[in-house]
Amino acid sequence: MDIVSIRDLNREQIEQVLERSEKMIPYARGEKSSKALDGKILATLFFEPSTRTRMSFESAMMRLGGRITDLGVPAMSSISKGESLADTIRMVEVYSDIIAIRHPREGSARLAARFSSKPVINAGDGAGQHPTQTLLDLFTIKRIKKDFDKLKVVMVGDLKYGRTVHSLAEALSSFGVELTFVAPSALQMPKETVKQVEKMGCKPKLTNHLNETIADADVLYVTRIQKERFPDLAEYQKVAGMYRVDRKLLREAKSDLIVMHPLPRVDEIDPEVDDTPHAKYFEQAFNGVPVRMALLNLVLGGEL
Ligand code: CP
Repeated sequence: MDIVSIRDLNREQIEQVLERSEKMIPYARGEKSSKALDGKILATLFFEPSTRTRMSFESAMMRLGGRITDLGVPAMSSISKGESLADTIRMVEVYSDIIAIRHPREGSARLAARFSSKPVINAGDGAGQHPTQTLLDLFTIKRIKKDFDKLKVVMVGDLKYGRTVHSLAEALSSFGVELTFVAPSALQMPKETVKQVEKMGCKPKLTNHLNETIADADVLYVTRIQKERFPDLAEYQKVAGMYRVDRKLLREAKSDLIVMHPLPRVDEIDPEVDDTPHAKYFEQAFNGVPVRMALLNLVLGGEL
C-alpha cells in the first residue's frame, strides 16, 4: 500500500491510524519497547531539507526495532552521475521494505510508487501533498479537542504552495469541520483543493483578514510563507511578514483556541506565544513519532 496523497486513505483507515497512534505514545517516549519491525528496513530519500519528517520517521522505525538505510545527500549518490529517479527507486526497493521520499517536484512520490513494488510514503512532494503530516495534525487535534464535528479551523499563510494545508484541508472536510482560508489573493488555496473540499460538503470561507477570523476559531493552523517556492523573489517580498500571530492577536481568541504549525517557523508566530496555553506546535511535532510508528506498523505488520 502506498501513501502518496491523503486520498489514498479512507476515513476508516485514517481513524485506524489515529487509534493505533494513541497506543504508540509510551513506545514513542521510550517508556516501553517493541520489536514489531525487527528485520525490516526503511529507506529514506530526502531531496529537500527536513528536520521533523526525516528524524521522526527514523525514530519511529528504531522505536519499533526496525532499521534505516538513507540515500544521504543526493549529490553524493549516483543521481549526480545522471541516474534517473525511476532507476534510483528500482535500486532502493531491493535494499529495503518501505520507502519514504521527499522531493521538490510535485508528483515525484507518485512516480516513485509506480517504480517500486514496496510501499512508498510521500514525505512531501513540492507544493503537492504531505499526508503523514496530515495524520499527525489530525491526531493532535483529536487528542486535544476530542471530536472534529463543527470545529472552526482557520488556516493562514502560504496556502498556495503549502502542501501541509492541501492535505489537511482535504482530510478535515470529510470530518465535518468549518474551514476558513486566510491568505493574500496571490497565495490563496488552489482552486482544485477548494473544489475537493466542497465536494466533501464543506463550504470554506476565503479572506485575507486574519483579525476577523480569530474570535470564533477553535484551531488556528499557521504556515510559513515559503520563500524557496516563489519563482520570483519580488513576489515573495510583497507578501513576506504579512501575518504574525502574537499575544496581542490572541487576546481576541477563545481561551481554548489551539495554535498549530507544521514548522519550521520563521516570523509568523512570535516566540512570546510559545509559553501560552494556545501553543501546541511542539507537541504536534512530537506526535510525528507515534503517528509514523502507527503507519509503519499498519503497513509492514508485526505485533507490538
Ligand atoms: N513539518 C515538516 O515537514 O517539517 P520538516 O520540513 O522539518 O520535515
